[in-house]
Amino acid sequence: MAADLYSIRDRVALITGGSRGIGQAIAELFAERGAQVIVCSRRQASVDEVAAAIRARGGRAHAFAAHVGKLEEIERLLGRIEEQGLEPDILVNNAGISPPVTGEFCDTTPALWDKIMDVNLRGPFFLTAAVARKMAKRGSGTIVNISTTSARMAQPEIGAYCVSKAALDAMTRVFARELGPKGIRVNGISCGVIRTVMGEHTLSDPQRYADFVRISPIKRPGLPEEVAAAALFLASGASSYTTGETMQVDGGVLS
Ligand SMILES: NC(=O)c1ccc[n+]([C@@H]2O[C@H](COP(=O)([O-])OP(=O)(O)OC[C@H]3O[C@@H](n4cnc5c(N)ncnc54)[C@H](OP(=O)(O)O)[C@@H]3O)[C@@H](O)[C@H]2O)c1
Repeated sequence: MAADLYSIRDRVALITGGSRGIGQAIAELFAERGAQVIVCSRRQASVDEVAAAIRARGGRAHAFAAHVGKLEEIERLLGRIEEQGLEPDILVNNAGISPPVTGEFCDTTPALWDKIMDVNLRGPFFLTAAVARKMAKRGSGTIVNISTTSARMAQPEIGAYCVSKAALDAMTRVFARELGPKGIRVNGISCGVIRTVMGEHTLSDPQRYADFVRISPIKRPGLPEEVAAAALFLASGASSYTTGETMQVDGGVLS
């Protein structure tokens, strides 16, 4: 396969949750590959820092704060992107939260349920719908949803998170079917334990970490860069015949 099949040069890529962890690694890799990246998270100072570092290395980056769980902030984000004359060719729905349920899954409060669903599902749904409408007019685009093995391997202490991401995987398939004829491909990445702030939930707890290593063929957590490499494949023409797929980047945990 020719190396330029992975090219995303001059594409505009919107990455949510780009201020640290997996989103930051995706923004950095995409910028290094010549894309113009739009980094978004709730805190302006954090995304400014990531964008400035990318620009310092010769890349092109914009930074906009937005809470993806709030539809009015998504609208404002899209307005700011348009004001800059930018239209995303690539959307990475990466921002996500996984606060543990206090007690059992049955004890999930409506407030916690709403918070998790708003950020992990409602936001990505409406952001994708808005971005896809514009991609459809141009007849091309790629969308990558960052999911988790927990969508298929139930973990009651983060039960609402599992449900939100299982629904995100369903969203990937439904959007892929609807948008395929319009030239837009939609895929997901199901991450295992990755070394980030969110990954600390497993990594910092000796029992959880031991349990994870026991079921992991690769016997170590993944790195954000290893997820970014898969995102590059799915965002670029290298994956031109793949849509509706959520690929495992989990060190083999679900094998
Ligand atoms: N790390 C893992 O082990 C793992 C495993 C499976 C799946 N994942 C998935 O991978 C994705 C990235 O996780 P990560 O590990 O990189 O987590 P992380 O280190 O906690 O980073 C989360 C990112 O999302 C942003 N964010 C959080 N809430 C947001 C909101 N409401 N609106 C916009 N941005 C928001 C954060 O920035 P601000 O705080 O500035 O908003 C940050 O940039 C998530 O979807 C997660 O579910 C991670």
